[in-house]
Amino acid sequence: MKRIYLDNNATTPQAPEVTEAMRPFFEEHFANPASTHREGQKVRHRLEAARARVAELIEASPEEIVFTSGGTESINLAILGAARKRPDGHIVTTAIEHAAGLEAVRRFEEEGGTATYVRSRSSGDIDPQAVIDAIRPDTVLVSVMHSNNETGVLQPIEPLARECNRRTILFHTDAAQSCGKISISVRETPVDLVSLAAHKFYGPKGVGALYIRKGIDLLPQMFGGGQQGSRRSGTEATALAVGMGRACELARSAPGSYLERIAPLRDRLERGLVAAYPGATVNGSNALRLPNTSSVRFPGIRGEEMVISLDLQGIAVSPGAACSSGAHRPSHVLIGMGLGADLARSSVRFSLGLYSLPEEIDRVLQVIPEITAGLRGMGNRMSTAAGKEGDRA
Ligand SMILES: Cc1ncc(COP(=O)(O)O)c(C=O)c1O
Repeated sequence: MKRIYLDNNATTPQAPEVTEAMRPFFEEHFANPASTHREGQKVRHRLEAARARVAELIEASPEEIVFTSGGTESINLAILGAARKRPDGHIVTTAIEHAAGLEAVRRFEEEGGTATYVRSRSSGDIDPQAVIDAIRPDTVLVSVMHSNNETGVLQPIEPLARECNRRTILFHTDAAQSCGKISISVRETPVDLVSLAAHKFYGPKGVGALYIRKGIDLLPQMFGGGQQGSRRSGTEATALAVGMGRACELARSAPGSYLERIAPLRDRLERGLVAAYPGATVNGSNALRLPNTSSVRFPGIRGEEMVISLDLQGIAVSPGAACSSGAHRPSHVLIGMGLGADLARSSVRFSLGLYSLPEEIDRVLQVIPEITAGLRGMGNRMSTAAGKEGDRA
């Protein structure tokens, strides 16, 4: 039986076009792009073309793009590179950021800085006024994710970027989940720093980029040979960068794919899931969301058990963020939205991708009634509180 992959927020498959574009860089184009000989210059030329492709996707200039090893490194460079310029400064961020953002801010606190973590509303989005109210005279950076990786809820980047711009406070957004799914323009929205990860939109794993608005000087977090204008030392991973460039080009060539093709599939999945199980509710359904993400809670069932049952039926989904799913802790995002621990634990994330097919959604909806019927008794035995907890705890 062909397996069904609905965990695209954890990572997407690499597009065949991306693999094809990368191949020569493992073979004939192996030279160091910093070398002055012809082989090196050829690679340099292709690397810079890839940088231009990444820039084009978000309407930036190529010199504003720094290649990194992925979303985590981009976020660390943005947050620590901005905040460490004033070690006793203050950061405003949110309680629903990805671990990469939360841990970078915590690191800054350990070093003597301070931070405010703004909570989300029960709808899963951040009240922009709450972020603005948290700004202090010593605030050096505001960092708010573009969309949440668990719920897909879009955050109010536009008003926050404008307000930070007006106050000349640096504004960073983690766009790892938005990039390639919805349009992002640094020309239209005055963000200063944007973190991107190629493997979330059909590019290779192990490469990302940080957009740094022209004129912004970050403290480098990696020291060495001074590559990429000394903003990120180290020989560039040319094959990976070229792969990311190609993924950006593909995303740009089909801008409406997610909204036109994937959102209707996602909506059908949600309608079916809600109809199949009493009390099933889509987390964040009252907010604007990414077109591919459904976080659904099934009261009385453990999300992890459901993930295993679906896996046995050939369907790959996840209980929440990929990196915390082994931790068995309820999601900080769902808890932050006001769900009790049992309801948070009853959630499953279905994340569709450009290769998702209508018949795959049909198959999920076909197996769900039997799986939930089987697990429901188990869930009730594990936690009698879950069923009584109602919609919100
Ligand atoms: C919102 C968000 N930020 C950052 C990351 C980290 O990206 P990477 O895995 O490329 O380090 C992820 C990926 O899990 C993510 O979903």
